[in-house]
Amino acid sequence: MTGQGEQTAHAGLSVRGAGTPESGIVEVMNYGFDRQGLIPLWAGEGDIPTPDFICDAASRALAEGQTFYTYQRGIPPLRQALCEYSKWLYGTPNQAERFYVTGSGMHAIQTVITLCADPGDEMIYHAPAWPNLPAACSVAGVVPVPVAMDFSPEGWSLDLQRVFDAVTEHTRAICINSPSNPTGWVMPQADMVELLAFCRERGLWIVADEVYGRFVYDQKTLGAHGRPLAPSLHHLVEPEDRVLFVNTFSKNWAMTGWRIGWIEGPESIGLETENIIQYSISGVASFMQTAAITALHEGDEFAEGVIADARAGRQIVSEGLAQSGRCRFAEPEGAFYSFFAIDGFKDTDKLGLRLVDEAGIGIAPGSAFGVEGKGFLRICFVRRRDGLREAMDRLNRWIAAQ
Ligand SMILES: Cc1ncc(COP(=O)(O)O)c(C=O)c1O
Repeated sequence: MTGQGEQTAHAGLSVRGAGTPESGIVEVMNYGFDRQGLIPLWAGEGDIPTPDFICDAASRALAEGQTFYTYQRGIPPLRQALCEYSKWLYGTPNQAERFYVTGSGMHAIQTVITLCADPGDEMIYHAPAWPNLPAACSVAGVVPVPVAMDFSPEGWSLDLQRVFDAVTEHTRAICINSPSNPTGWVMPQADMVELLAFCRERGLWIVADEVYGRFVYDQKTLGAHGRPLAPSLHHLVEPEDRVLFVNTFSKNWAMTGWRIGWIEGPESIGLETENIIQYSISGVASFMQTAAITALHEGDEFAEGVIADARAGRQIVSEGLAQSGRCRFAEPEGAFYSFFAIDGFKDTDKLGLRLVDEAGIGIAPGSAFGVEGKGFLRICFVRRRDGLREAMDRLNRWIAAQ
């Protein structure tokens, strides 16, 4: 208790500083991080380290003296490599000037929020959602407006009309995360066409978070690289459309700890984007950018291996959840998470903590993804197969004992 007249550090903080919620994912991670023998499936990352050829490229660049301040928009060869990668993946023309290198996908999100909304403005997103998006809006003083998705055994869906109905005079952007973390939902191409037409007419921005674009499982459509790819706004946009793509090196190339990502957007906002990067992180270390070029040039085989692991992991987790007979879930169409409910557990808020103690597994509570995720749990399945099998056995033994 604080006595009268006493001041805590907390009391001196800004409303935004003090009011930023703890991530429900991080709460479970902090709780179980050091537990001996625990199988962690809470975070959005695999258990394979960054491959040597990428690490070696960073070491070489460091040894060569890439230790100085550098271009705020990203080094030109990396912007060019991102442009070539985009053409290879989507088969659409592009320009290196449209790419901006950021200190992670998270930083890309923060940057685009600052670029398209002022404090008090609204940004619409679909929920359940990765909590960092609405939290980053709040930190920026922007109001995150959730639109609830629907769950059925066939999968998650988003009613576009509900999204359009949520638009007010304060709305500046609509954020789409497809494939989605945590639901695995993939936005159909026809909905993208409709969304883009709506946003063009209203002058709204679209923030397109396509970081899991290559992680799709039953997709009939192929990318220009000849393999499955989620429908993308890349196939629809004109260069000066108000569409800001956010992306990251974290997922495809097992580089979560590096903190490097990118924005793709109109060339005409280059200076403004550069300014926001300058006044936040002042650019990404050039030796990391050099290694990122290597990831793009030489990392396809590795990325395909990660995607194959995710595909196998999805099957193990789906079979495991079905085996219990007490889990409700839909097989995810994309990304690498299973979002499921256990019959009899309406409130999963603290279930993540219990499962650490009682089952030796680390799972994120659905409420971490908004009230729309209440009652669900999220498992990341881009993990080694034996670990996943053991985790599902532990979960099923725990469920059977309840
Ligand atoms: C939907 C989504 N967008 C963006 C990111 C950002 O990833 P990072 O900050 O590691 O680049 C993540 C990470 O989990 C994510 O799930």
